[in-house]
This record gives sequence, structure tokens and C-alpha cells, in this order.
Amino acid sequence: MSAPQSRERSIILNENGWSVRVLDQRGLPWRIEWVELTTVAAAARAISEMWVRGAPLIGATAAYGLCLALRADASDAALERGMALLLGTRPTAVNLRWALERVRASAQPHQDDARVAAAYRCAALICDEDVNSCRAIGDHGLELIRAVAAQGRTVNVLTHCNAGALATVDYGTALAPIYRAQELGIAVHVWVDETRPRNQGALLTAYELNRARIPHTVITDNAGGLLMQRGEVDLCLVGADRVSRNGDVCNKIGTYLKALAAHDNGVPFYVALPLSTYDGSLASGSEIPIEERDPAEVILISGELPGGEPGTLRLTRSAAANPAFDITPARLVTGYVTDRGILRHASEWAALTMRALQRNTR
Ligand code: MRU
Repeated sequence: MSAPQSRERSIILNENGWSVRVLDQRGLPWRIEWVELTTVAAAARAISEMWVRGAPLIGATAAYGLCLALRADASDAALERGMALLLGTRPTAVNLRWALERVRASAQPHQDDARVAAAYRCAALICDEDVNSCRAIGDHGLELIRAVAAQGRTVNVLTHCNAGALATVDYGTALAPIYRAQELGIAVHVWVDETRPRNQGALLTAYELNRARIPHTVITDNAGGLLMQRGEVDLCLVGADRVSRNGDVCNKIGTYLKALAAHDNGVPFYVALPLSTYDGSLASGSEIPIEERDPAEVILISGELPGGEPGTLRLTRSAAANPAFDITPARLVTGYVTDRGILRHASEWAALTMRALQRNTR
């Protein structure tokens, strides 16, 4: 078996020191195309049209988007315009606002070129921190996989959507422990929910796992319950787009149903996330804005036609609805795999964020 292919970061500052390149995820796995973002408008379009997606990568792209806005015009007015444009791209992942507020806070005290330079430093830091956070999530989550592997068998993990390297700057959140397990030679097999309607599981997670040579099987979104009843899932490991103060988890539509099935079958259900995905300003998940996307995403299915060329088919002539995320109540979550360790209860968030805040302000 050949060695796994090495990955690049999902967003890279170009050699010119100011534009960034991102992988256009819409073409995966059929087409690998990097695009250069040179304006704030292009960054906003890349986020809203999902060339890039996944909470941490949305934040990183927005951070550089604000840098591009300031490079064109470093005034206060341009800063606010850039913020508003980028904030309006997607409503659910809190990393977007988190990253933009960080860049604004670091740029605001400066003027002109110094302001632009401060913004770029902050965006680079956000990216580096994300890589480190994801590695730490991998280390902490590894313990869950090790515990099952100690029984002397392949560990079966079920995941939903794509919470891998493509959803972050590198490594991923839910997939990071799986990558770590593979590095250590622990046998893991991943059940990959296809994740209708945009099929991030079948298209992106499967692509990542293929590249890393990690055994996996794509299943329909409805299959997980049966697999859990049959004892074929050791643990569920999913990502998050926002977690509220009481521990409710907002993630890709369909996550909630997996959590219900896991609860009913005694399968541990873990959510992996960096601190940047925690929103302590919201008391519960019911306050999290759920993105409603174009019904065309439900009606039309894209993929590879029998001849090998990409194509799109119409599934139905009926009306369709497309809520993109759902809320999993905290009571269904076994634990949160964070970059600072595994939390078992929502009440631990407050202490954790306070410690992180103290560390950053010291
Ligand atoms: O709509 P997307 O593809 O941006 O949504 C991303 C997700 O919901 C991911 O599954 C993930 O769990 C959160 S990002 C690590």
C-alpha cells in the first residue's frame, strides 16, 4: 500500500504576501482547483457559495477577507463595510463572527499600512492556532479510540458531514482523532454519512479518508440507526458549527437524528470542536440562527455521470425545503472533545473559556 498523500492547508497566503488561495470544494472529488482570492468581495463569495465551508475554515477565510478589504482601503468605514459584508455570508457558524471580531480588534488601534499589517498578522495567527487546536483535539479524542481499540478490535466510528481537514485549516475536528489513530497504527473504520443535500460526507469526507488510506464506508443518512442497533458503531464523532452555553450543539442537518439513535442504543456520542466554536453569549441552542439554503440543493443532485464527466440530475418536480443545520440537545451529548481536553458537561465550558481568556489577555 502506498504512503498516504500529504495534505496542504485549506487556505494559504500566497508568496506575494497579500492574496490567499483556497481549494474550491465544490469540484471535489472530481476536480481539484485552487482559486486565488484578491478582494473582500471574492472572499465573501467563496464563503456564501461554499467554495470553502466548515466553521473553522469559514472563520479563517473571513479573517483574510477583512485583510483584503483593508489592503484596498484602510479607513474605519471600509473596516466596517468589510465586516458587514463578511458577516452576512453565512449565519450559523459562530467562528465567522469570532474571527472577524478578532481581526477588527487587532487592526482598529492602528492606521494605514500598520493597520493592514496588524490585520494580516492576526489572520495568520488565527490559521496557526486552528491547526494547533485541531491537533490538540486529535490528541484528546484519540483516548476515546484507544479505549475501544484496547478490546483488540477495529474501532468503528460514525461521522456526519465533513469535519475534517477540509472544514478547517488542517487536520479537522471530528476527523483529527481518526488521523491520530491512524498515525499510531490503531485500526479504525469510519462510517461516513453521505449528508444530503450537499453530500459533504460522500464527496469530501470520503475524499479525505481515501487520500489518507483510512478504511471507510459511505452510508445513506438513514442507515446509522440500524448499524447502531446491530452493534456496528463504537462511537459517533461529529463536528459543530456552534455550541451554546447549555451545551446544545448546532451542526449539519441530520446530526440530531444520529444523536437520538446513539442515545437509544447506548452508543457514545461525542462532539469535537475548538473553543472558537463555543458561543457563550447564547443560553441555549434555540437561539442559534439556522441557515435556510436554496431548495435547489435538495431538488438537484450533482455527481459523476456514467461516462465519467460531471453532471447534475433533477430528483423531483415538487417543492423542497432546505434547513442546513439542526440542534442536538446537550442531554444527548456524551462529551465535547475540545482542544483543551474532553468535557463531560456543559457547565465546564464557563471555566474553560475563562481560563482561555485569561491566557490571551496576560
Ligand atoms: O454547511 P457546511 O458544510 O459549512 O457545514 C459544516 C458542518 O456542519 C460540518 O459538518 C462540521 O461539523 C462543522 S465544521 C468542522
